Amino acid sequence: MPDTEDPKAVQEPTEDPSKTITRRRFILGVIAGGAAVGAASYHILAPSGHGRSFGGERLISLNVNGKMRRVEVMKQETLAWTLRYKLGLTGTKLGCDRAECGSCTVLIDDVPYYSCSVLTNTVRGRKVTTIEGLAADNGTLHPVQQAVLEAQGFQCAFCMPGFIMSTVGYLKAHPNPTRAELAHGISGNICRCHDYMKILDSMMLGAQKMRTGAPADNPGPQKATLAFWGGDRSTSVGL
Ligand code: FES
Ligand code: FES
Repeated sequence: MPDTEDPKAVQEPTEDPSKTITRRRFILGVIAGGAAVGAASYHILAPSGHGRSFGGERLISLNVNGKMRRVEVMKQETLAWTLRYKLGLTGTKLGCDRAECGSCTVLIDDVPYYSCSVLTNTVRGRKVTTIEGLAADNGTLHPVQQAVLEAQGFQCAFCMPGFIMSTVGYLKAHPNPTRAELAHGISGNICRCHDYMKILDSMMLGAQKMRTGAPADNPGPQKATLAFWGGDRSTSVGL
């Protein structure tokens, strides 16, 4: 008769955990700006003018995430294009490339803008902040990023950097919004997975973290969200 399995026995992992992509790890990558979500094929689909050199590039200086960057840009080049394909800041996503979805949102002088609709030439002398510039130098996430990580408020996460940047910009001017006010404030962003309730849960938690500088004691709707999903599934949900 075979030995019965000891339910208390520690299960040996079948895979190297460092190589396992969990939902938590994936989302952390996206909100920190480094995950490879998105536009690998965008170069092929880009409108004419993007991605080609017409010999009219000018070397300019840009203040991006607190650093001065020297970059050659075309006069018709958008900020989204420069950030992603000249400076390697691929945390800024390109969804529609026509000012409709908000996935390309960055802060310019602390105000949210669609970077797909801003010419790079026009931001010289201004302060550009992308999703890569939110975390502290020691890696500590911005409170809104941390809230997203804790609340797991997204599906595919493509829209996440844009929503975070819009929320951070909105909260700079409106630090204590109601849920309805915040929803209106970030309504220029679209989630194709239609995950708006969880997105708002995350962003309201982020607002609370920004105000208090501490984890939320009473996350309200976010608590219900976690209950719905069966608690923190971050260590068990793979992608
Ligand atoms: S990519 Fe800029 S608004 Fe959609
Ligand atoms: S979570 Fe997929 S687009 Fe928003």
